[in-house]
Order: sequence, then structure tokens, then C-alpha cells
Amino acid sequence: MSWLAHTSITSVRQFDRSDLDAIFTLADTMREHPQTYQDLAHGKLLATLFYEPSTRTRLSFEAAMARLGGRIISTENAAEMSSAVKGETLADTIRIVSGYTDVIALRHFDAGASDVAAEASSVPVINAGDGAGEHPTQALLDAYTIRDQRGRMDELTLTFVGDLAYGRTVHSLSILLTNFPNVTVHYVAPDLLQAPSWLVTFLKTRGVHVLTDDRLDARVLESTDILYVTRIQKERFPSGVRHEDTSYRVDASVLHALSPHAYIMHPLPRVQELPAEVDRDPRAIYFLQARLGMWIRMALLARALTLA
Ligand code: NCD
Repeated sequence: MSWLAHTSITSVRQFDRSDLDAIFTLADTMREHPQTYQDLAHGKLLATLFYEPSTRTRLSFEAAMARLGGRIISTENAAEMSSAVKGETLADTIRIVSGYTDVIALRHFDAGASDVAAEASSVPVINAGDGAGEHPTQALLDAYTIRDQRGRMDELTLTFVGDLAYGRTVHSLSILLTNFPNVTVHYVAPDLLQAPSWLVTFLKTRGVHVLTDDRLDARVLESTDILYVTRIQKERFPSGVRHEDTSYRVDASVLHALSPHAYIMHPLPRVQELPAEVDRDPRAIYFLQARLGMWIRMALLARALTLA
């Protein structure tokens, strides 16, 4: 079913090709003519309810709402500072917050939390990351960045490297790519952190060519259009698993083997896997990627509030 039949955004599975085209076109227009949209959400209130740390996602949602002329209330540390500490359920918290506001952006540590919230809410809920589940707005901004830089989403070879088991941005972007023809996905990670089998199966049944490997080999890098690097999500590891066993890094040999026409992306925050030296490489587009997220979130807020 098309996203236009929903208002909450819990998974990228809600979006079909025409929804994506509509969102990207709206984000383009907002970026080109921001003044036209500066009062669109006047009188509307966004709640950002975050149970996990965030810099980009929360602040870009808030910047997006402010640029649409709306207002914001925010709990940036809901795990410790909300009634969750007293034992309130997420559903009850959402019932209360949705009574005060027009739209809620929720980040939570449990996969599936945004479905629980959307069910309990009387206003649209936007999933801003649910545990190791999904991060649909990140996938939309990732795809928007690829389209912006490459001009197209089809005929794409994308290599994911890093934590593909617990990285929710990897899950959401992978699912989103199934909307486009002739896509190849390389999953490069140690066994412990490989992409979940449900994801590999889902992509294959949707016609995506999937390859898995445990190291970044020069042949893979040569054919890669987008190198999507991710952080080890050590906070999501089951106890007993050592993240020291999983280190990797975009080093000079990776940059050398990567095609001159490729782009390097990362949802950020980066740690040791993407050294600051890479920032000077013209193929590095991760700061642009973060910036473009604000326009995508403006488009999504406008759609969720049925203002555009
Ligand atoms: C990501 C997340 O929270 O899943 N960050 C983001 O939203 N840009 C990636 C991460 O934390 O590694």
C-alpha cells in the first residue's frame, strides 16, 4: 500500500517508487524555494521524543519544523528524564504526548517501538530509529543524496561495510533500494556482523543481486558506486561479544582501489572506521548527506501533517 494511505512513518516498506519520487521532488522544491514554505506549519507542534542519543536526527527534525514555521517540544533524554523511569509504558507516554502535539518524532531502543507508538497515537508518529530495527528517514535522506549526486538510483552497486547486523540505517536503505531496478548490494562484514538472513532473502526475492564478503576486496571496490560505511554499534551487542574483534577502517588502500566516480557515505557519527583524512577526498559526501537530511525531514513533516 502506498504511503499516501498512512500518515505515520514506521518503516521504509511503506514507500513505493512514486512516493519516493514525490518526496524527493518536494524536498528539491523546499531546498530551492525555502521562503515559500516558511509558514506552512504555522500553528503546528512537533514533539521530538528521544530515548537514545542523537545529534543529527533530532536537530534536523527540529530545524526542519522551525523552517516550516512550526514549533517544537523536545525530550532528548526520555529514557532517564521521562515517566519511563517511573514505569510508564511507551504506549501511555505516546497517548499523552499525542494529546498535546500534531506530530511526534520518536527514537527508541526497542525494534518495533514505533509500531507500538503509531498504534497508540492520535497523531502521526515518525520513526527516528527503533533499536536495531529501522531508520526510515535516514534511508530516505541517503537515497535522496545518492539521487542528488549521481542523478539516478537504478543501475547502482552499493557496498555496505561495517556493522550490518545491528545497523538500522543499513536495514532501511537496503529495503528502500528494492524499489529500483538493476541494483547490486555487497555486504562486507565479519560473520558476527553480517546482514541478517531475512534481509538478504528479502532483497533477493525483490530482484536485488546480493553478495556477501568478510573483507573489502579491490574487485568489489572497483565496481562500487557508493561505499556506505557504518559504525560498529557496540551498544547493541549481546553481552560477551567483543567489538575489538570487528575493527576495520577506510584507509589509503581502500581509497586507492575505489573507483574515482564512486561516493563515500556514512550516516554518522563516525569513529575509527572513517578517519578525518578521508574528508579531503572529493568522493566523501557524508557531511552533504547530513545536510540534505533537513530538507527530506521538511518534506516528510509537511506530508505527515498533510500540508503538502
Ligand atoms: C545512525 C543511527 O542512529 O542509527 N545515526 C544517525 O541517525 N545518523 C547511525 C549510528 O548511530 O551509527
